[in-house]
Amino acid sequence: MSTELPESVPPPTGSSEPHSAPTRRTFIATTTVAGGVVVAGGAIGGVLLGGTEEAAGAEAAPSSRVSLTVNGTRRTVTVDNRTSLLDLLREHFDLTGTKKGCNAGACGACTVLVDGRRVNSCLTLAVRLEGAEVTTIEGLADGDRLHPLQQAFIDEDAYQCGYCTPGQIMSGVGCIKEGHTGSPDEIREWMSGNICRCGCYVKIVRAVEQTAGRK
Ligand code: FES
Ligand code: FES
Repeated sequence: MSTELPESVPPPTGSSEPHSAPTRRTFIATTTVAGGVVVAGGAIGGVLLGGTEEAAGAEAAPSSRVSLTVNGTRRTVTVDNRTSLLDLLREHFDLTGTKKGCNAGACGACTVLVDGRRVNSCLTLAVRLEGAEVTTIEGLADGDRLHPLQQAFIDEDAYQCGYCTPGQIMSGVGCIKEGHTGSPDEIREWMSGNICRCGCYVKIVRAVEQTAGRK
């Protein structure tokens, strides 16, 4: 690429350099213009040479229709096949009580119940849930009456920042339903997939115990 200054281009204002020598400013100006042409040409070429088809192909990500019941309400949506249950709940249904922590199955913040069983919603594909019953933290209370485990978390002061709490409570509900509450150790073991960065484990176990009727 030539960096020669065309004769018709005046020197930059205040420049002490002679006309014939390219300055930093003119060099940048000319190369930017030239680059702009290349970029624009590329863009035009893209359209002419099939860029439009590529763009159309990118828009057509595989999607599927799925019907499921969330907190007692039947929902039908068409979603990208890669959508996780977590993103379906948060982004499509606006149910943001379920939290995204690691998004990789390691923290339990995203725990919900699917057909009564606790799952990490970040690892669950939404399109595989045709006909499923999903319960999230928003669906746990009975009107104004909190679920007993929600109440127990308050009674035992079993949270600090609260970010892990929806997942802890959903997991605790599953744990109690599964009957894994024979001792604090057993509760700890079966709740071990739910991480609390604030370290509220002792009180969380107490809340689960309280709800399981062991106190
Ligand atoms: S966000 Fe799903 S396990 Fe961490
Ligand atoms: S209360 Fe803060 S992470 Fe558990």
